[in-house]
Amino acid sequence: MEVADRSFELFLTHEEIQEAVKNVASKINTDYENKEIVFVGVLNGVFMFASDLIKHISVSCEVTFIKVQSYQGTSSSGKVTKLIGLSTELEGKHVIILEDIVDTGLTLEKLHTMMKEHQPQSFEVATLLFKPDAFKGKTPPKYIGKEIQNKFIVGYGLDYQEKGRNLKDIYKIKE
Ligand code: XMP
Ligand code: MG
Repeated sequence: MEVADRSFELFLTHEEIQEAVKNVASKINTDYENKEIVFVGVLNGVFMFASDLIKHISVSCEVTFIKVQSYQGTSSSGKVTKLIGLSTELEGKHVIILEDIVDTGLTLEKLHTMMKEHQPQSFEVATLLFKPDAFKGKTPPKYIGKEIQNKFIVGYGLDYQEKGRNLKDIYKIKE
């Protein structure tokens, strides 16, 4: 599979992804029973995960998005830029940040600081994918669909040079 100028190989099928998504949803449904959730999705990569996850959420919830950017090409730039801010009131709410993938954790750290200013009642993170070997943060996400190796991946919302987001499976870069 070619995306832009690189070759990729199949890594997770659409079915495997859906299993991981359902597992995350069912944990959230249990933990937030009788509560109200505000999901804050981190664009762009999260759009497919957010849309699939939310279909399995049975608790009352709101859904909103923010846009930040840390990646350039295939590695983290070390800087997180806010591109679209928050439009929903979070004070006193149970907030769950939705991420497609947590890599170094830098984006999360920045989001955590941003969210704290809005004084939510609680704050957790749900991510489809987590790279434990790349993670440099303090607290790993509470809800993780799947832990993966420290390899660059595309598909299911994730891009390489903005391409490949449309793929329904997830692909790993060939080295
Ligand atoms: P950090 O390092 O801040 O990175 O945890 C989080 C953001 O970086 C992007 N990211 C990736 N995008 N394939 C991608 O297409 C990857 O393997 C990958 N790793 C990190 C992603 O946007 C994530 O939110
Ligand atoms: Mg992202």
